[in-house]
Amino acid sequence: MRFFIPIFFVLVVTIVSIMGFRGDFTENTPLEVFPDMDRQAKFKSQTQNNLFGDKKADRLPVPGTAIRGTAVELSNVFLEKPSFHTLAFRTGKNEDGSWVQQIPDEASVDMSLMRLGKERYGIHCSVCHGEYGNGQGVISQFGLAPRNLSDSSNSGTYLESAAPWSDGQIFHAISMGSASGIMLGLKDKLSPKERWAIVLYVRALQSYVSNATDQTLSASK
Ligand code: HEC
Repeated sequence: MRFFIPIFFVLVVTIVSIMGFRGDFTENTPLEVFPDMDRQAKFKSQTQNNLFGDKKADRLPVPGTAIRGTAVELSNVFLEKPSFHTLAFRTGKNEDGSWVQQIPDEASVDMSLMRLGKERYGIHCSVCHGEYGNGQGVISQFGLAPRNLSDSSNSGTYLESAAPWSDGQIFHAISMGSASGIMLGLKDKLSPKERWAIVLYVRALQSYVSNATDQTLSASK
């Protein structure tokens, strides 16, 4: 019983000093009973990390990583004079607001661009527009009516309109989505070059389909 009062007093002081001042503001270093993840073992950006050969803490994404967010060209980010290309290349529109008629030279049209386009089309478009662009992708069985991209003889295609679409318009549709907003834009997932590659591939599908249709027509005559 002799010690009860002093022990009780010490306990009250300890508990009140730990619990009683929670939420108060102080300039002093806080007393951390639980660290609450205030301090973590991590590397800050632009610092050194000896784990890697080049000793940089900042790492580039692994090649082939699917980028989410704006599709910046990473190779460009580290150049002394990054190139952001012309307005026509980035938007499919000329300075005066008119549509770019043909795929700009900067996209350097060749077979490797065509392969890129085929691959990206297969990943991003074929589920809706179908492998051959006829608008009969898997999704079309579930109530969505994707445009027929390849066959202009088929009614209701955007190719059928009085002025057939320019390359810039197709690029714009891929970037920003369809006018009605049913198809969403993909500019956050595809770089401008990849979008032009898809335009090139769509054009190839169109001439393939129209050739095939011509042959069928002449054979049936
Ligand atoms: C989620 C399904 C879906 C995906 C993925 C998709 N589309 Fe579409 N797309 C549609 C639908 C649906 C329409 C018709 C939209 C409308 O009626 O407004 C359309 C319309 C279009 C049009 C005509 C635009 C317009 O304003 O009329 C083009 C060109 C087109 N798509 C190209 C593409 C290309 C190229 C890709 C791949 C990069 C793609 N789409 C990916 C569903 C899709």
